[in-house]
Amino acid sequence: MRHFLSSCILILLVWSCKNEPEKQMLNIKEKGFIAHKAMVVSAREEASKIGSDIMQQGGNAFDAMMATEMALAVAYPYAGNLGGGGFLVYRLADGTKGALDYREKAPLASEKNMYLDENGDIIQNKSTVGGMAVGVPGTIAGIFEAQKRFGKLDVATILAPVIELAKNGYIITKNQEKRIAGYDSMFKAVNLKEIPYNNKLKAGDRMINNPLAATLQRIANHGRDEFYNGETAKKLVEFLQANGSIITLEDLAKYEAKWRDPIVFEYDDLTITSMSPPSSGGICLNQIMIMAQPFDLKDYGHNSLKYIQVLVEAEKRAYADRSYYLGDPDFVDIPVKTLTSEAYLNNRMEDFSFSEPTSVDSLSHGNIIGYESNETTHYSIVDQFGNAIAVTTTLNGGYGSKLYANELGFFLNNEMDDFSSKPGEPNYYGLIGAEANSIEPEKRMLSSMTPTIVEKDGEFYMSVGTPGGSTIITSVLQTILNVHEFEMNMQEAVNAPRFHNQWLPDEIRMEPNAFDKKLIQQLQNLGYNINETRSPIIGIVDGILQLEDGTYEGGADKRGDDTAVGF
Ligand code: DON
Repeated sequence: MRHFLSSCILILLVWSCKNEPEKQMLNIKEKGFIAHKAMVVSAREEASKIGSDIMQQGGNAFDAMMATEMALAVAYPYAGNLGGGGFLVYRLADGTKGALDYREKAPLASEKNMYLDENGDIIQNKSTVGGMAVGVPGTIAGIFEAQKRFGKLDVATILAPVIELAKNGYIITKNQEKRIAGYDSMFKAVNLKEIPYNNKLKAGDRMINNPLAATLQRIANHGRDEFYNGETAKKLVEFLQANGSIITLEDLAKYEAKWRDPIVFEYDDLTITSMSPPSSGGICLNQIMIMAQPFDLKDYGHNSLKYIQVLVEAEKRAYADRSYYLGDPDFVDIPVKTLTSEAYLNNRMEDFSFSEPTSVDSLSHGNIIGYESNETTHYSIVDQFGNAIAVTTTLNGGYGSKLYANELGFFLNNEMDDFSSKPGEPNYYGLIGAEANSIEPEKRMLSSMTPTIVEKDGEFYMSVGTPGGSTIITSVLQTILNVHEFEMNMQEAVNAPRFHNQWLPDEIRMEPNAFDKKLIQQLQNLGYNINETRSPIIGIVDGILQLEDGTYEGGADKRGDDTAVGF
């Protein structure tokens, strides 16, 4: 009998695996990891686990932020970093909301035309690889500022497991092997020697980083100033200058993370809190959602023709505004109130029609080539005290400028490319900018990062964000709508196929083989250009959703190695 039962179970298991597509057709929900009290969802299991353990030791979301962010710097050097920057959006248990900007800054010696040659043309690669591409890093200032204001544990306790991770190593995944091999020749070209990340690393290998363990130990001993004024600062500046950077000790000493008022707006019964400038994320998300709100998205259906048309046209208008108006608020006046007002946005959609696309030239001009990847990283955390955070952090490109400080154990960003090097010329993400995002000493470059917290009826509902350069905003948008309009759970919402429009280039990017051919034909018949080849995936979204019974569901995007851990 026992034999018979186990055979039946085996047959059922085989059957259910074989019938995966049917399962989807029957619409059986893919549910994410459930936790009762606290959770971290991030790009690496090791980082989620270290963050979760810190909360289990009595730490809160801000302690877990420091631990998770540093663990990502160890185990996900593609985007996790000490040499980059990021943004935090938080909601405390009492409902207070806020944002922290630890975006990189242009060095003091920067000049508006530093990436142009004598003819005024862009010098290829100068803003994307090597020392000249590096902005003054903000990550250490950011995690210390957040932890100092809201954390509960001491820094040495928080960093101890991260240092252990660096010393004991982590296992290289298949995805990492592929990425590292892909960048191998660039690493060699930029660093002029072999670095520990090279094409000899294979999936299953253990990667130990003793120099990074030592850097983190010094930071644990001496605090934030170790990175900005101490021995690490000296070593870093020496290394950077030897590699053509204009960053000085004064640049590091002057760096401060800044508390900002986040962008807060209502959509139906949701209150959405997202990142303010110098990120464009919050304003663009606000604009797109308010432009889309009068339409009956739910009735149109998920990823239906009309749904795609409304979102694409709203996105087009928001990205056109982005490129003209947005930049570092410490340097430029941004008409935030007008840009996000209902009157302005309704007016903006006045020429929208279901019968044809609005021409991009009637919104503004430009001629660009851009492409996409997922080289930033996002994590979401909720703690057992009721606090929630959304954090997106980046080196910009994969492994940033590819410049690797061997002695310190980390990569440096290439965030300077997020400035508009020349008005009207596209950057790495195909985004074009204007005066508002031109280079000035100490200015922060415009970002698209969109760490976002959603409340429903005044209670915490969701924490969400993603990498993906210019596609970050539209991926966050679709994830929120997937849950709110189409009643998906968190895991389904992050897994669902995504599309993207950013005004220029004049095309809808779609994840390949994820959309119905007939639908694509219908869009083309209407006059839309469809590009299914540019982005193999759009975003790697991580999120946490509070369910009706008060538990949390993690959504760890199937597109990466992302994992939810909690208790
Ligand atoms: O801040 C930004 O918008 C970009 N530096 C983000 C880069 C990113 O998402 C990389 N992944 N594609």
